[in-house]
Amino acid sequence: MPVIRIDDIAHVRFAAPDLAVMRGFLNDFGFETFEDSGRLYGRGRDGRPFVHVTEPGETRFLAVGLRAASLADLETLAVAEGVLVEPLDEPGGGHVVRLVDPDGYRVEVVAGQEVHAPTPPVADPPRNTAAAKPRMRAPLRLTSAPAHIQRIGHAVLRVRDFRKSEGWYKARFGLLTSDEVEAAKGVPLGAFLRCDRGDVPSDHHTLFLAQLPGPPGLLHAAFEVAHFDDLMLGHQHLKAAGHKPAWGVGRHIMGSQIFDYWRDPFGNELEHWTDGDLFTAADPPQKQTMQALLAVQWGSPHPMQAGRLAPPTSLVAFLMALRLRVLRLFRRRSEGTPA
Ligand SMILES: [Fe+2]
Repeated sequence: MPVIRIDDIAHVRFAAPDLAVMRGFLNDFGFETFEDSGRLYGRGRDGRPFVHVTEPGETRFLAVGLRAASLADLETLAVAEGVLVEPLDEPGGGHVVRLVDPDGYRVEVVAGQEVHAPTPPVADPPRNTAAAKPRMRAPLRLTSAPAHIQRIGHAVLRVRDFRKSEGWYKARFGLLTSDEVEAAKGVPLGAFLRCDRGDVPSDHHTLFLAQLPGPPGLLHAAFEVAHFDDLMLGHQHLKAAGHKPAWGVGRHIMGSQIFDYWRDPFGNELEHWTDGDLFTAADPPQKQTMQALLAVQWGSPHPMQAGRLAPPTSLVAFLMALRLRVLRLFRRRSEGTPA
């Protein structure tokens, strides 16, 4: 039984040495930006006070914010963790419980923030398909502009020990596994975790914990845009503004979303996405391969697979499984448990 069941992701928090440079990128990415008390904020159209925060400082990822369903849940969490519920001294107010996960990530669980009426999502123009022609005697004319960010959707964290992190997040926040990714049979690499809202559908993933080589860090944070044309117009806008593409456009297998990844001027990766899967608590977890993680249903191949000398995904998965097995062996030896 988890301590609480979180409702959604709330925000991601970074530090960067130049807020004006970050703001220029965030505007091109499609956030509404504003500064308050020396911090830079980005918000979407969902009425939430902010979804992206940048504080002045040396470039780094600072924290992931999760949204509790109520202040009562926040109290329950605080008691279980032996910490205090603090006032959240940021736009929108509310309260926060600050935790630190097994890899040292700051996790800010918030509740009671002021929420404004959402700005309705930009409408998807009617699409003529082979099956139906709803757009008649009306040419389609799109306006070049940044994508319209509606909300934050998920964050991907690189962790040192997937099972340990998975246990930590599930025990506190009631997350459910949508897809567990294995490098080889019985060798888990990570999992796409979603919120447990009972019968209310939830995004395929709110957190993806991945035990990949490299130090702990945020791999990317993702923001939902209005629709496919909006995502493509956003892609064009970011490209014309000279920003750095990271991967896309394409359609993922796990989560099914159409994706487009970019790097901000400080190297953080942010994703635009649209048309993702939703599941309820009744949907069982699935096992997936690493090959499926790297593959796309259509579109740009994963950067690792883009060159002419791209290693076969089966070799990448084999090496990853070998690494995970060795790490597991060392961990068991150091813990004194039989391998
Ligand atoms: Fe993503």
